[in-house]
Amino acid sequence: MTTDKSAQPRVLIFDTTLRDGEQSPGATMTHAEKLEIAQMLDEMGVDIIEAGFPIASEGDFAAVSEIAKRSQNSVICGLARANYKDIDRCWEAVKHAAKPRIHTFIGTSPLHRAIPNLTMDEMAERIHDTVTHARNLCDNVQWSAMDATRTEHDYLCRVVEIAIKAGATTINVPDTVGYTAPRESADLIRMLLERVPGADGVIFSTHCHNDLGMATANSLAAVEAGARQVECTINGLGERAGNAALEEVVMALKVRNDIMPYRTGIDTTKILNLSRRVSTVSGFAVQFNKAIVGKNAFLHESGIHQDGVLKNVETFEIMRPEDIGLFAKNIAMGKHSGRAALRAKLKELGFELADNQLNDVFVRFKALADRKKEVYDDDLVALMQDQGTSE
Ligand code: KIV
Ligand code: ZN
Repeated sequence: MTTDKSAQPRVLIFDTTLRDGEQSPGATMTHAEKLEIAQMLDEMGVDIIEAGFPIASEGDFAAVSEIAKRSQNSVICGLARANYKDIDRCWEAVKHAAKPRIHTFIGTSPLHRAIPNLTMDEMAERIHDTVTHARNLCDNVQWSAMDATRTEHDYLCRVVEIAIKAGATTINVPDTVGYTAPRESADLIRMLLERVPGADGVIFSTHCHNDLGMATANSLAAVEAGARQVECTINGLGERAGNAALEEVVMALKVRNDIMPYRTGIDTTKILNLSRRVSTVSGFAVQFNKAIVGKNAFLHESGIHQDGVLKNVETFEIMRPEDIGLFAKNIAMGKHSGRAALRAKLKELGFELADNQLNDVFVRFKALADRKKEVYDDDLVALMQDQGTSE
């Protein structure tokens, strides 16, 4: 295990909230909102921002162009299908960036090959021609084999080799329909690294969807097998059940760095703010028990847990809330809360009670908690004032 973090392999974080995330039905963002989110992603240390799909609409083109012009640190990437028109339009938008990237893709699995009705050879030729075209425009080209996890291995190796020879600098291996599982995700990356000539000269990327709830696990397994770019979105926003959540991938690599010794460039203290902003502008509420950024992710209600965290926070917390930018209290008062939590909470509110007073208040607090889902600070103050025990 490497304890010197700077010596650990660096995993690039590719955020696609503004492209795959915005493809969630109903998650459309305005131009101004996209610029704001892109700036926040850039400030947080995201390596690559996929800012949109320039040929999809005038609005997408304008947003990608403006984000490219304003970008400070991040590579700015646009998506393009495997045709010259898409690629040219993408380049027109991203070329303003200090660090532009063209991301072109085609579905390589049998199901996806059937849609444009291309034979394997015809598709291979299309990949060669379009990646060559993109590379003539831009030094930084990502090629994706859409539905890679359901593509025949021999064919996948063949087309990845073609894309590398044509000049792709990043090869993305998407689990487009969230079908894979961690061991298979790792095996696929390992297989490509072993079998494809030239694989050691490019970055392999993982792009996992969450249809079976395994997007984060699949992404991490791919990293352990050699992927050095993870594609993800804030709050796991994305098509259907979403994409791998940036906050989960990044915090897993931070908290379990002992067993997954890879570093990212993300300033994790900015995660919560970004999560809240993306939730507001997309209109997608974050579920209460969502890992890392859910309202309840750092809250304790039961007496045993509250007593534990009051004595030693590590009893029930595996990461520090301030590491994601959360500074609020971690105790939620409800019917499962115990005396220790009530005493601590009342002290925080300015009420220091003798044991007999606490016993009395505790009985009335439990009765109130039985009637209410959550007991707020104001309820406790009212409870104390009713009794006149304020000091
Ligand atoms: O899920 C997917 O395959 C994609 C590609 C466009 C990369 O989003
Ligand atoms: Zn996707």
